[in-house]
Amino acid sequence: MILPLGSMGAPQPDAPARIGADGSVAAVPGGSGATPLVELRGVTKTFGDIVADDDVHLAIAEGEIHALLGENGAGKTTLMRVLAGLTRPDDGDIRWRGAPVHIGSPADAIGLGIGMMHQHDMLVSTLTVEENFELARPRPPLALGLADTRGRVAALTQRYGIDVRPDQRVETLTVGQRQWVNLLRILDGPEVRLLILDEPTASLTQSERDDVFRTLRHLRAGGVAVILIVHKLGEVFEIADRATVMRAGRVVATRPVAETSKEELAALMVGHAVETRLAGATKAPGEVILSVAGLQTTGAARDLVDVSFEVRRGEIVGVAGVDGNGQRELGECLAGIRRPSAGRIEVRGGDVTGTTPPELTRLGVARVPEDRQEHGLALGLRIWENIHLGRSASRHLVRRGVVDTARARRLAADLAARFDVRAQDLEHPVGELSGGNQQKVILARELGDDADLVVAMNPTRGLDISATQFVYEQLAAARSRGGGVLLVSFDLDELLGICDRVLVMSGGRIAGEVSGAGADRTLIGMLMGGEHHVVAGDVAL
Ligand SMILES: Nc1ncnc2c1ncn2[C@@H]1O[C@H](COP(=O)(O)OP(=O)(O)O)[C@@H](O)[C@H]1O
Ligand SMILES: [Mg+2]
Repeated sequence: MILPLGSMGAPQPDAPARIGADGSVAAVPGGSGATPLVELRGVTKTFGDIVADDDVHLAIAEGEIHALLGENGAGKTTLMRVLAGLTRPDDGDIRWRGAPVHIGSPADAIGLGIGMMHQHDMLVSTLTVEENFELARPRPPLALGLADTRGRVAALTQRYGIDVRPDQRVETLTVGQRQWVNLLRILDGPEVRLLILDEPTASLTQSERDDVFRTLRHLRAGGVAVILIVHKLGEVFEIADRATVMRAGRVVATRPVAETSKEELAALMVGHAVETRLAGATKAPGEVILSVAGLQTTGAARDLVDVSFEVRRGEIVGVAGVDGNGQRELGECLAGIRRPSAGRIEVRGGDVTGTTPPELTRLGVARVPEDRQEHGLALGLRIWENIHLGRSASRHLVRRGVVDTARARRLAADLAARFDVRAQDLEHPVGELSGGNQQKVILARELGDDADLVVAMNPTRGLDISATQFVYEQLAAARSRGGGVLLVSFDLDELLGICDRVLVMSGGRIAGEVSGAGADRTLIGMLMGGEHHVVAGDVAL
């Protein structure tokens, strides 16, 4: 669906709420005047020639969850750092409950009740949870020591139902648990009235995200204002009351969520209409390119039970399911990094069961892995080296046993440009790139050779709209040149938007299959929940 350009930026009628569509907080009709909790007025911040924030006005009301949206580089983090006292603006001022305030340091921000959870956490991995809490807290005159901290941490984890022990080392925590420690560390401080979260959901599983959202709603009910930076538009509609879109350092619009749409927000973010759906396949699917029959695993977190399906040329097949229902194990079997205990995997009719990653690469199977840091990249190697990892031979970069580095660099630069890898140059270790750019490096490597079979695990995780869109286009391109795509994703909107059909996994099995467009979400929900026995219209069991 394409949004006509004319519908962008049209002023929305004011809701009968205390918050105006333009971002100002108006008096409630018939009620007492409502002053915003915090108001940024004309905030400008430059870094050399770069204008990160350009005359930004933004008002946040008490007890609202305010989504802050924008492409990478739009100026969101810089703006939030101004509020947190970490960045001094060049111009503009801040009002707190209507009164001018000076936030010159993090201590000033904390004193007002502003807490910020950063995109990259600042926990010390080698210390325990409680020691990290200690570090965060300005020491009281009479230091109470670790015993007191342990009690507080235990109380907090219990209150929020978090399964983390105070004496656990941070490096042993999952991404989700680590995130919680971060959040609890902020909530542990003086009373928080404004909580800022910079892309907290980018690396969380769905259930971890649900937990975070539940806590945010709970905080909102207590009158806390939340500014939430997110990329997934679905999340905006799930949790936020209002949304502000930034582009190139400026606020382009603030909208009550009830009065906008994903299409409108996406268009505001990128400055033009965005296709949120791919057109379906134009031709009937062709021959089978990937066949999985009776696949089983043992010893995994979630073992596969008799998983069978096919992917044909000319189709994108999705795999939906709640995280932890066997998708990871399936992806690992297909990527050659887990050996099934039974069953068979065929690519173009040839048996590849239990084969190695290099062999799959040789067969032209593009794999976008689940864990990009562990399986996707060699973090210490240069960006251009990662773009060719395992492919120097197939890309004819080896001459008389030696890699022709000049040629390799040139080709890497072409691929990096095509896949919009943003890096100063390609000589830096790939580990220095942002998560989104690391993902693009993997895509450049895996999709750069026009593979005709693509197995992708959550390929758009952590990407902004333009990059996400680009991935969708690449998958569609694979389909239209007669390839087949298997797309595993936790994002149901994504699956229903671009897949021709979707398999639903539950408990390590394929619980059912639905057609992509117009599929019944309730039905998918039931299948995800293990209701194997449902029989309805477009379900094949
Ligand atoms: N410390 C810094 N030094 C130089 N440039 C910066 C710095 N911080 C941010 N920028 C630049 O400012 C712009 C806005 O960045 P940022 O606020 O991080 O955007 P967002 O969070 O929306 O992705 C970008 O062009 C970024 O490269
Ligand atoms: Mg940012």
